[in-house]
Amino acid sequence: MGIRLEGKTIGITGAASGMGLAFAHRFADEGANVLIVDLDRGAAEAAAKSIIAAGGNAVSAQANVTDRGQIRAAVQVAVAAFGRIDIWFNNAGLNRPMSFIDITEENWSSIMDVNALGVLIGTQEIAKQIEAQGGGGKVINTSSISGRVGDANTAPYCAAKSAVISLTQSAAKALAPKDITVNAFAPGVVATPLWTKLDEDLMSIGASSAPGEAMKNFSSDILRGRAAEAEDIVGTALFLASEDSNYMTGQVIMIDGGMVLV
Ligand SMILES: NC(=O)c1ccc[n+]([C@@H]2O[C@H](COP(=O)([O-])OP(=O)(O)OC[C@H]3O[C@@H](n4cnc5c(N)ncnc54)[C@H](O)[C@@H]3O)[C@@H](O)[C@H]2O)c1
Repeated sequence: MGIRLEGKTIGITGAASGMGLAFAHRFADEGANVLIVDLDRGAAEAAAKSIIAAGGNAVSAQANVTDRGQIRAAVQVAVAAFGRIDIWFNNAGLNRPMSFIDITEENWSSIMDVNALGVLIGTQEIAKQIEAQGGGGKVINTSSISGRVGDANTAPYCAAKSAVISLTQSAAKALAPKDITVNAFAPGVVATPLWTKLDEDLMSIGASSAPGEAMKNFSSDILRGRAAEAEDIVGTALFLASEDSNYMTGQVIMIDGGMVLV
């Protein structure tokens, strides 16, 4: 067990899978009490159990990040279990590619709701809880290279991930008086279930023609020479959750192997 997050309680949305799950395990290894928040109740419970089996502290809550009441209740699950909550990770996200001309209002709204409105709601609700505790905490948001560069087949996702960057800046300004820092990180191509599904969906709209082709094409210009595994992102997430990042706020860290140089 490490000590970088000893005694801290961290809530992570979308933590039943992919990057969020990898973060949750590492944070628990570093001494944090972890709240797993996810739409998928069974997977969230299994994630908490696996952390406990590894010797860590975890609880889970089923919640949709677009539903304020459910997020408020999820925050209280952590407070009931651990007495307080110090850090909130707005990490849940999804993508449903459509070629630009075909994008529907439903596609736009559902992507914007989960990826952007979910960040607003999560940040507001954790800020209220932290204020009730007397102030002092951290919010960390998962953006993407898609927040920096548009894409022909995933425009709503790109717009939503740009919104995450903008919300990170606004929230940093709004919450500074409560001693809450707000930062984001922006991964590139990470081999998680999200990309497995994205690869299939891009094939189904004719944007690629063979399994694995879209991911291979997206990864071809990565300066580090390969797509990421979730483990490649964990150290940056830990830095943002730990006291080492206390003097940072309103920032976005690109952790993409060198895909987007801005
Ligand atoms: N995989 C990549 O290449 C990549 C790159 C950049 C950014 N991201 C972002 O990283 C984050 C994590 O993605 P991942 O690759 O680990 O994906 P993933 O699909 O493995 O995990 C996402 C989790 O979010 C949950 N979720 C989805 N909608 C939800 C909702 N409305 N409320 C609560 N939970 C919900 C899912 O059930 C799932 O457990 C997302 O925000 C994603 O957009 C991923």
